[in-house]
Formats: sequence, structure tokens, C-alpha cells
Amino acid sequence: MSFADVLPFLRSWVRNPLRTAAIMPSGNRISALMTGEIDPEMGPVLELGPGTGPFTRSLLQRGVPESMLTLVEYSSEFTRLLRGRFPSARILRMDAARIGEFNLFEPGSVGAVVSGLGVLTMPPRQVKGILNGAFKYLRPGGAFYQITYGPRCPVSKEILDILQLEERFVAKTMRNIPPASVYRIKRRVDTAGLS
Ligand SMILES: C[S@@+](CC[C@H](N)C(=O)[O-])C[C@H]1O[C@@H](n2cnc3c(N)ncnc32)[C@H](O)[C@@H]1O
Repeated sequence: MSFADVLPFLRSWVRNPLRTAAIMPSGNRISALMTGEIDPEMGPVLELGPGTGPFTRSLLQRGVPESMLTLVEYSSEFTRLLRGRFPSARILRMDAARIGEFNLFEPGSVGAVVSGLGVLTMPPRQVKGILNGAFKYLRPGGAFYQITYGPRCPVSKEILDILQLEERFVAKTMRNIPPASVYRIKRRVDTAGLS
């Protein structure tokens, strides 16, 4: 985590604690865990709730070209900061729950989705919108990686059942403020047989 990121993050938290959902940007360890299964050959990567961009930086370190990244962020301050930091990425200022309403990618073309969104505190309708939109674009076998500070997957079993998705714990680190885990969400029956 860069020290320069702490102030904009705290400012965002003071303005809107529920939406910011954390008081500190993610550290290097959880960023590496969130992106560790993503391969540059997979295709475009969609990041939801990038904030100041710790997962974005980690994706670039893994070799994903900046031009293959689409970042969806609601905060105007973070969007401005991201545009300065990642000029070749596509940066969209919008509600991640509405991504499925637009043609942001060819359906089934996205390699992976990385989500820093605080889904635990979101209403179920918003969570459904986010997952529906993400899986519209994800390729067969593609995965949605979700961070959480809680003890289990932050997407309820009810929503997973409705959308025919399944979750798997990937990893946890105590070296983050607060300690955080990663969950991988995939389609239950994947046509590519890769799930
Ligand atoms: C917990 S912060 C995570 C930021 C960054 N990924 C990190 O790990 O440091 C959540 C981020 O999601 C953004 N966000 C919250 N609700 C959103 C929404 N509905 N659509 C897009 N971005 C949203 C917030 O502005 C914030 O940048």
C-alpha cells in the first residue's frame, strides 16, 4: 500500500463510510492473493471498486497489460486519481450494479473479475445486479474474485442459488488492516468444463 493513498481513502470513508467499506486501502499481500490466479493470457480483466488501485497495480505486476483493464468506480475522487495513474486503462465512473445494462464487452469475453466492493453491506438487489452483470461478460470457466473482511463468503447462499453460482475460499491474510480473505465465485455448471 502506498502512503499517498491513505489520505484520499480516509477522506472517502469520512464522506461515505458504507460505500467506501474500509478505512485503509488494501495492502500488498491481499492484493497479491486477489490477483494470484489471473493470467495475462485470459483476456480482458474487469475490476469493480478499485479505489486508489492496489489490485490494479498487482494485476499490472502479473503482466496484465493496462490496456486490457476496465475499472468501474463510483467515487469521482477515486476515478480522477485512477485516470491519472492508469491512463491506458478504461475507467468508468458508474454503479457496478448497472454494468449488465450496457454493452461493456462482448458477452463471454472477460477473463476474470476482481471485486473490492463492500458487498457485505449492500442490499441483495444490488449484489444480484453486480453478479448478473459480471457473469454476462465472464468467459466460460471465468472467475469472480471477491475480497471480504468477514468470516465467510459475503454473497449469501440464496443469491448464489438463484444465479446458479458457487463459491470457494481461496486464501486469508492477517497482514492487512483489517485481516481479509478472498473468495472465488464461478458458474455451477460451466460449459467449458473448467469450473
Ligand atoms: C473497500 S473499498 C476497496 C478499494 C480498493 N479495491 C482496495 O482494496 O483498497 C470499496 C471501493 O468500492 C467503491 N464502490 C462502492 N460502491 C460502488 C458501486 N456501487 N459501484 C462502483 N464502485 C463502488 C468505493 O468507492 C471504493 O473505492
